[in-house]
Amino acid sequence: MDALNEALDQGFRQVPTDTARHLWSCPDAEFLAAARPDPAWPRHYFGPAYAALASRFAGGDTPASTQRDIDTILRIATDHLAPRPRILDIPCGTGRHANALAGEGFDVIGLDLQPDYLRTARADGRAAYAAADMRDLPIPTASIDLVLNMWNSLGYFLDAADEAATLSEFRRVLRPGGIVLVQQDLDAPAALEGRWVQHMKVPVGDGALLLLRQVPDAALGGLACLSWVMLPGQEPFQGPAFFLRLRDDAAWAREGEAAGFTRVSIARTPAGVVPHETLVLLHA
Ligand SMILES: C[S@@+](CC[C@H](N)C(=O)[O-])C[C@H]1O[C@@H](n2cnc3c(N)ncnc32)[C@H](O)[C@@H]1O
Repeated sequence: MDALNEALDQGFRQVPTDTARHLWSCPDAEFLAAARPDPAWPRHYFGPAYAALASRFAGGDTPASTQRDIDTILRIATDHLAPRPRILDIPCGTGRHANALAGEGFDVIGLDLQPDYLRTARADGRAAYAAADMRDLPIPTASIDLVLNMWNSLGYFLDAADEAATLSEFRRVLRPGGIVLVQQDLDAPAALEGRWVQHMKVPVGDGALLLLRQVPDAALGGLACLSWVMLPGQEPFQGPAFFLRLRDDAAWAREGEAAGFTRVSIARTPAGVVPHETLVLLHA
C-alpha cells in the first residue's frame, strides 16, 4: 500500500470523493468539458503512478500478457519477415518486450520518452535503449525490419500532423519488405459507434480499485479519458486527463497510404469477445 501511495503522489492528485463520483457518472458532455487533455499529457501521465498501476491488473503489463504478446510477435515475424529481423520497439516503456525479444536472440533497440522507464529497461541489459520522441526517431533510414508499437501506444497526439509525422518516421526507418505492428486492446470502431464499454473498474491490489472512464470526443477524433485510484480510507487519486485517437479501417488505410505504406492489414478479436485485441500491420 505504501509503495502505491508513494507512486500515486508522483503524478496523480487527490480530489474530493464527490468530485470523482460526479465525473465518474455525469453525462458525457459534462465529462468531456472536465477531461480536456493537455497536449503534453504523456509527459505528466507516464510516470511512477502509471508504472505502479500498469503491472497491478490482469490485462496490464503482467508477465502473462507480455508472454502472450511475444508469442504474437514471433508468429507475425515468422509469417512476414526473413529470419532474425532487426527490431525497433517504440515506445518501449520499461522494456518488457524489447528485453524478452533480445533474450530470444534478436537485435533490438527500444526508444521511449521517459528516462525513468529507460533506466528500468536498461537494468535488464539485454536490448539497447535511447530516449526519443516517436515523431523524430534517432534511427537511420531503412535499417529496421520490424517496428513494434505495443499496448495502445499510438494516437496520443491531439494534432493530426503529429500523428502523420509519427507514421512517416515508422515508414522511414523500415527496410523494403519491413512491417509495423500496432497492437491495441481497445476496439476503435466500436468506440466510434458508441458500443465501447466506457467504464472500467479493476482491483489493483491492497484493496485499491482503478477506475477508468473513456468517452468518445468527436471534436478531437478520439477517446478523452480520466482515471482514479480508490484507496481504502483515503480521498481518490485522479490522474491527468489523457487521449487516445480512434482509427477505423478507413482511417488506417488513408493514413497508412499517406505515410508511404503499400498495404495495411487489420485483425480484430470478434465483437463481444473479451479481452479485445486489434493487430494492425503496416507494410513498407
Ligand atoms: C502504454 S505505455 C506502453 C509501453 C510499452 N509499449 C509496453 O507495452 O509496455 C506508452 C509509452 O509511451 C511512451 N510515450 C508517450 N509519448 C511518447 C512519445 N511522444 N515518444 C516516445 N514515447 C512516448 C510513454 O513514456 C510510455 O512508456
